[in-house]
Amino acid sequence: MLRRTKYLKMDPQVPEIHKIRLAARIIQRGGVVAFPTETVYGLGANVFNERAVRKIFRAKGRPPDKPLIVHIARFREIRNLVSYLPPKATLLMKRFWPGPLTLVLPRSHLVPDIVTAGQDTVGIRMPSHPVAQALIKVAQVPLAAPSANISGRPSPTTGKHVLKDLAGRIDAVIDAGPAPLGLESTVIDLTSPVPTVLRLGAISPEELEMVLGKVELALGARERRYLPRGQVYVVTGPVSKIPEKIKELIGQFRAQGKRVAVLATQETVPLYLEGPQPHHMEILGSREEPRSIAAQLFQALRRCDSLQMEVILAEGIESRGIGRAIMSRLLNFAGSRVIEA
Ligand code: TXA
Ligand code: MG
Repeated sequence: MLRRTKYLKMDPQVPEIHKIRLAARIIQRGGVVAFPTETVYGLGANVFNERAVRKIFRAKGRPPDKPLIVHIARFREIRNLVSYLPPKATLLMKRFWPGPLTLVLPRSHLVPDIVTAGQDTVGIRMPSHPVAQALIKVAQVPLAAPSANISGRPSPTTGKHVLKDLAGRIDAVIDAGPAPLGLESTVIDLTSPVPTVLRLGAISPEELEMVLGKVELALGARERRYLPRGQVYVVTGPVSKIPEKIKELIGQFRAQGKRVAVLATQETVPLYLEGPQPHHMEILGSREEPRSIAAQLFQALRRCDSLQMEVILAEGIESRGIGRAIMSRLLNFAGSRVIEA
């Protein structure tokens, strides 16, 4: 299934129309194109073309029971995708679209089974990234698009990451530099009696509750997702104590001959200058600006993977707003390896 992957470099703010047209033509002819969104890069195909959507699953090695998100650029495109639009959906669309929020809604019969993994619901979102918007508008069809990584790898936040995973397996990639948010969208199910958040992202449950009233959380229960190659440990507790604890762990793991990485923050970096040193350190961003941490996280984990780090010691951060979405992913990687400083 090897083919030449077209590489289309693009300004994130001012998409070049001739390149967008080229990519849109590939979509219209049943091809698959990776494109930037404000969250992570997606791998898109015409949602109504079953054969094209099948190519997405093949290129990613994605299990067929995992549904795809459908991306639209105009509100009216939702009509062909859902059988019913709950009033709560309209409220959320008005408040958060375009943006990093996916709504799970009752599907219409026009959406092929392969997109929804046979379920009677469909996940839909309207990305705000100018390139994603331009591509969907010019292609004139909604795009079914999962994250543009090989299944089991972290979501790609740059065009280079996409190529690393999928070069030769997809028709084209539009590279517009780093994805601004770096974490996948918040997913909320509006088909359950109480709206239920299925995945945390840049839009927090509290922000959703301001529009909806009470929401429930049911996070990633049965999902097979990315795990870094190294064992992740999350060290929680007061910021002032975390680096000391991590240095103690660096000492222990180095004594066992392990290759150790640390995920630190701008505020704590100076505290690692003395004492046991890791083999690799990532400075994710600032605790004052948790968005900067989100934007770096997957890139940092990809580097730890390629440097074959065996232990990844991550500093816990405040679990609020997007910080909570970051922590939910870190804790997911760590499983029971959570240590209190
Ligand atoms: O930010 C994002 O959401 C990115 C960009 C490309 O839009 N997309 C993304 O897609 O992360 P993917 O396929 O990697 O993750 C989609 C998530 C999965 O957890 C999937 O189970 C859930 O959305 N999902 C999609 N459709 C669903 C449905 N009908 N019911 C429940 N969950 C659904
Ligand atoms: Mg994914």
